[in-house]
Amino acid sequence: MLKRNPIIVALDVPSASAATALATDLAPVVGAFKIGSELFTSAGTDIVRQIRKSGGSVFLDLKFHDIPNTVAKAVAAATRLDVQMLTIHLSGGTEMIRAALRAAEQTASAAGHAPPLVLGVTVLTSMDAGTLQEIGCEPNPARQVERLADLAVRAGLRGLVCSPLEITALRQRLPAEVQLVTPGIRTGAEKADDQKRTLTPKEAIEAGANWLVVGRPIYAAPNPRTAAENILASLH
Ligand code: C5P
Repeated sequence: MLKRNPIIVALDVPSASAATALATDLAPVVGAFKIGSELFTSAGTDIVRQIRKSGGSVFLDLKFHDIPNTVAKAVAAATRLDVQMLTIHLSGGTEMIRAALRAAEQTASAAGHAPPLVLGVTVLTSMDAGTLQEIGCEPNPARQVERLADLAVRAGLRGLVCSPLEITALRQRLPAEVQLVTPGIRTGAEKADDQKRTLTPKEAIEAGANWLVVGRPIYAAPNPRTAAENILASLH
């Protein structure tokens, strides 16, 4: 039995009005809403405030990666918006990760609410051995993911974004309290698209994911609410 609704809908739509309509329709049947760089860059902090005001949880997926001081200030700003999850790139290193965690905790404590779960991004799934080699990294993607995941845990992080195919290995490797958030979820009902390595919602949860990021299978479905309800039902 699931303790809570693990579905995070990616609001990958270009306008605030489209995002608000989707969020209103889906609020009763999903656990959180992911706001990424497209929507945030066009709709700004207003869309975050609107969703929070209506009671929805927000995952702000802006993948911060900068010097520790700048990342800390960006995380503090996101924490003041009272988001529940946000992302940073682990390739920023230990000092940057610690600065992000400190900023989340201190800002939340001053604001009187819970800190967001800071999630680390390891290796983007669009990168392969060639891309990693090109930028001077360990060329084996799985090894680079493990290396960054270990570094994240040592720095005190309690959440990671990972691809469906990494869940099992990371679940075995990392402390149980580390939450795994995974995109690349497909039910089998949708048309083939650019996601190559996918799992069904149930497979991902059984492999050890705590949260599922679902975009097109919900927002591009003929009836998004029914699609979300079906995914939730498939988990029980
Ligand atoms: O539409 P779809 O279900 O593929 O959406 C998945 C969401 O997760 C998108 O917002 C996408 O940017 C994000 N994501 C991903 N793969 C990653 C990291 C993030 O699909 N490795």
